[in-house]
Amino acid sequence: MKILLTGGAGFIGSHLAERLLERGESVVILDDFNSFYDPEIKMKNVQRIREKGEFILCREDLLNSKVIREIFDKHQPEAVIHLAAYAGVRPSLENPGFYCEVNVTGTARLLEICKDHGVGHFVFGSSSSVYGVSSRLPFGEDDPVDQPISPYAATKRAGELLCSVYHQNYSLPVTCLRFFTVYGPRQRPEMAIHKFTRQIQRGQEIEVYHEGRSERDYTYVDDIMQGVLAALDRPSGFNIFNLGNSRTVVLQDLIGLIERALGKEAKIRLLPGQPGDVPVTFADISRAEEALDYSPVTSIEQGVPRFVDWYLKEMEETKS
Ligand SMILES: NC(=O)c1ccc[n+]([C@@H]2O[C@H](COP(=O)([O-])OP(=O)(O)OC[C@H]3O[C@@H](n4cnc5c(N)ncnc54)[C@H](O)[C@@H]3O)[C@@H](O)[C@H]2O)c1
Repeated sequence: MKILLTGGAGFIGSHLAERLLERGESVVILDDFNSFYDPEIKMKNVQRIREKGEFILCREDLLNSKVIREIFDKHQPEAVIHLAAYAGVRPSLENPGFYCEVNVTGTARLLEICKDHGVGHFVFGSSSSVYGVSSRLPFGEDDPVDQPISPYAATKRAGELLCSVYHQNYSLPVTCLRFFTVYGPRQRPEMAIHKFTRQIQRGQEIEVYHEGRSERDYTYVDDIMQGVLAALDRPSGFNIFNLGNSRTVVLQDLIGLIERALGKEAKIRLLPGQPGDVPVTFADISRAEEALDYSPVTSIEQGVPRFVDWYLKEMEETKS
């Protein structure tokens, strides 16, 4: 199958591109290598993908509809996996307009092109952040999601709603996947596990919000891959699935796991919660279990040491 993967040079996208190539799919990656974080990291991700096979790389901005249409004309993708976005909650509070442009306008333009090209399946990378501060735990896909607390979360919900519009009006098959804090090799450098690992390793103080009491449902990237690929293989109307691990981990405990894996003690500065940050995320994954045979297998106790191993090897490689 010919698949257009937006955001394929990023963290989740580069893992997915590898998996698609391993399955023998024909992959077109669209990514603008922007500087939200060091584009060199994205170049390195792309080199890793190349080790798995040939693919087409289009270094373009999603917002440039004219060029994106030309890419569709040329490559005629049968399915689109849309992961390109500005991610991250806190920076979205500083630059809400920009998040709307890329995550909302970009998604709307892409959906329009998919409709015109008769794409067979649109898979959208959404986020657990759409649940906001919900007292209902765990989060189920039918829970209300109309009170996001960050512009980022609002853009992800808007993306889902636009997907729904294109399904309702044009019968575009759509699957929205709500990812719950994904981690593993190549995780974005500003995300907590990566940032804390780097800072603890360097002996720097770490800033711990919510006094370390916040809870997250951390999902290992290989488990996410299983869910995304299963979703890709099952286009069926319009669906939303949670992809999480369905277990919450308290931030202090997460830091303890990183300390143990590094063999170093963290210097911790406890701070109150920050605007935009939810106190807890927790996925009910029963719908994905049933429809996608989704079954995450990596516990946080296994996943954090694997991440830290990867991080230390990367540091060694960079030095040599
Ligand atoms: N990592 C997580 O824990 C997590 C959780 C929930 C949802 N998500 C969603 O999953 C997707 C992937 O996240 P990630 O962590 O891999 O992020 P990432 O930043 O590593 O990947 C996103 C990629 O999209 C590209 N991109 C951004 N704007 C673009 C544009 N205008 N044109 C073309 N390419 C553009 C970036 O260059 C980057 O390579 C995002 O949509 C994110 O919102 C991620």
